[in-house]
Amino acid sequence: MSLPPIHRGHPDRPGHSEDAEPAGDTQPAEHQGAGIVREEGAKLDFTESMTYGDYLHLDEVLAAQHPLSPEHNELLFIVQHQTSELWMKLMLHELGAAITSIAADDLSQAFKMLARVSRIMEQLVDAWDVLATMTPSEYAAFRPYLANSSGFQSWQYRQIEYALGNKNPAMRGPHRHRPDLLAAVEASFQAPSLYDEALRLLARRGIPVPAVVLERDVTAPYVADAGVTTAWEIVYRDPDAHWELYQLGEELVDLEDAFRLWRFRHLTTVARIIGVKRGTGGTSGVGYLRKMLDVVLFPELWEVRALI
Ligand code: HEM
Repeated sequence: MSLPPIHRGHPDRPGHSEDAEPAGDTQPAEHQGAGIVREEGAKLDFTESMTYGDYLHLDEVLAAQHPLSPEHNELLFIVQHQTSELWMKLMLHELGAAITSIAADDLSQAFKMLARVSRIMEQLVDAWDVLATMTPSEYAAFRPYLANSSGFQSWQYRQIEYALGNKNPAMRGPHRHRPDLLAAVEASFQAPSLYDEALRLLARRGIPVPAVVLERDVTAPYVADAGVTTAWEIVYRDPDAHWELYQLGEELVDLEDAFRLWRFRHLTTVARIIGVKRGTGGTSGVGYLRKMLDVVLFPELWEVRALI
């Protein structure tokens, strides 16, 4: 009695039918994808030219993850921080250019960049979901290997905060041992913030902004001023007459909103992973992060909403 043929793969698909089965010394059927690559004319020989990996320096980027523990979950922790730092690099690039554009009265460029910064921040908010898959015991297993390292010492984060106007001079401290980093952080600390430049623009466009605000020491913490609330009120009461300034105000609110969400998700993720334990950076941990939630970057833009 003859046995029924054995079907391998999908009988309807060319190259996988019983008839097309390689037999004996014949060549194996070509993978369908190989045909597509050939037909599309994709370049396959890079002996003489730059590849994707060359252009992106992937050798360096992908060789920069060095878990210190034997724990499986440490790589997630490292990748999450490194990707956040890469996005922060882009944020700083965009924020710096936005500040320069506002100072030069080029608002259309600035709007594009500020929108990008907000979208990056929103994406980093969503990224907490990945880290939140790490349990307290998984983190505790490699936490001792972190010693005193903490995001608290992120110089790019401090530069972003300084660019957004949160000028806490103490935050320069962790970088004193690295003059190159200190110089970069110090430059952000000394420079007018995004909000300083926005208020100077309002004044240039004929909206009265108090002189004490325009001439303030830009390294001092920003203090809310009733005159600035009045200035934004003029803009918000008649958006059509001040459309660009109105759009600027809303872009700033968008940005602060996204930044607050990032801080909040950091706090909740930290709370579920370490509870009330102290941070590796030496602060009270969740208690410290809760205090940071109270930082307001553009106070009058929030106050003006109650007046409209
Ligand atoms: C298991 C995950 C994480 C834990 C348990 C954690 C915990 C903490 C704690 C307790 C602090 C307060 C400072 C300290 O004493 O250390 C802190 C600060 C900070 N962390 Fe995280 N963190 C985590 C993930 C991340 C990630 C993925 C980033 C992304 C870059 C990040 C960025 C920061 C920044 C920028 C600060 C300074 C915040 C400020 O001063 O306002 N953290 N973190």
